[in-house]
Amino acid sequence: MSGESDFGIYVHWPYCAHICPYCDFNVYRARGQANVALIDAIEKDLAAHAARFGKRTARSLFFGGGTPSLLHGDEIARLIDAAARAFTLASDCEITLEANPEDSALFAEQAAAGVNRFSVGAQALDNAALKALGRRHDAASALRAVEAAAATGQRVSLDLIYAREGQSTEAWREELTRALELPVEHVSLYQLTIEPKTAFARRVERGQLTPPDMDAAASLYEATQEICAAAGFSGYEISNHARSEGARSKHNAIYWQSGDWVGVGPGAHGRMTHEGARYALEAQRRPADYIDAVAEHGLGWISETPLTAEERADEMLMMGLRIAEGVELAFVEALRGRPINREALAWLIEQNLIVRDNGRVRLAPAGRLLANKIAAELAV
Ligand SMILES: C[S@@+](CC[C@H](N)C(=O)[O-])C[C@H]1O[C@@H](n2cnc3c(N)ncnc32)[C@H](O)[C@@H]1O
Ligand code: SF4
Repeated sequence: MSGESDFGIYVHWPYCAHICPYCDFNVYRARGQANVALIDAIEKDLAAHAARFGKRTARSLFFGGGTPSLLHGDEIARLIDAAARAFTLASDCEITLEANPEDSALFAEQAAAGVNRFSVGAQALDNAALKALGRRHDAASALRAVEAAAATGQRVSLDLIYAREGQSTEAWREELTRALELPVEHVSLYQLTIEPKTAFARRVERGQLTPPDMDAAASLYEATQEICAAAGFSGYEISNHARSEGARSKHNAIYWQSGDWVGVGPGAHGRMTHEGARYALEAQRRPADYIDAVAEHGLGWISETPLTAEERADEMLMMGLRIAEGVELAFVEALRGRPINREALAWLIEQNLIVRDNGRVRLAPAGRLLANKIAAELAV
């Protein structure tokens, strides 16, 4: 599975114009900091990764955040150039930018710099819902952003968050149906997660916010699958749907199929296989610490931990179960050196939560909302 052809680069841009109350990513308020010091550090970190792990060929370069769409075309071009000098970018390399609707005026110059896939963070197409999510854009600007991304001629994906407080299945059906009529080839549809230590978690503790219960969330998930399928979007992963095979995210496929990737930028994670070992890498979280680490040591990562065979197998199972194809059982068991929990496997099959065929295990529709729990049961 991990091989020379299966390699990607993740660049974390940690700044956001505003911090959303539900978000627990490694993010910091943009306060007019000069970008150049962080871009310089990322450039050096890319070179350090290539020196350590070899000049691999990347099939994907992903700018995630935070809000990397705050970067101007010349800044994106510098980062793409740095990645291309450190590694080799495949001729058909997918170059994705996570883009906030507020930044749509920059999309054309970002595409000219080399971005060939926009992942537009619309989150909702309803003004009241956007307000409740603490977003700064409205539905009309989300639609304008999709149009602006499509006008670049590049691939467009849309992110929505559902299972929001008070959201009825009917309203979500209507909103999702409208979203799928937009010029997008791919949608990522995430159920709202109340992450610990966020403003939303504090509101839930105080009884000021009540997200949908499990039954309501399951009904919303079912409606999601049904509407996407009817509109010709295949649910190829728990939260991701594509109009065609070619519209699937190449970058995320690297994560789901336990490929290799380097993660650069504050707090980025990576997984690299090198000389038979697989390493988990993690960068300094705070931007200033990351910049200092690169200045001092020439690299931004603070830890490089070899994974045990069991840890590798568990990750492969957890990530592989997320995709529609599932995961090859013999491969996982050979890697961990012992069978997975066969009793749990039989029980989960009996409960219609997973399916086993052709040597692979995959989630049945009813198991999709329980993926992590199921993977944990099987890994015991
Ligand atoms: C790290 S965010 C970056 C995208 C971009 N800054 C934005 O906000 O549009 C990537 C995606 O994660 C999803 N996300 C973030 N926090 C979430 C949460 N607590 N629950 C569900 N989805 C979440 C959103 O859909 C978002 O588009
Ligand atoms: S959801 Fe996006 S814009 Fe909001 S804080 Fe998180 S990364 Fe930043």
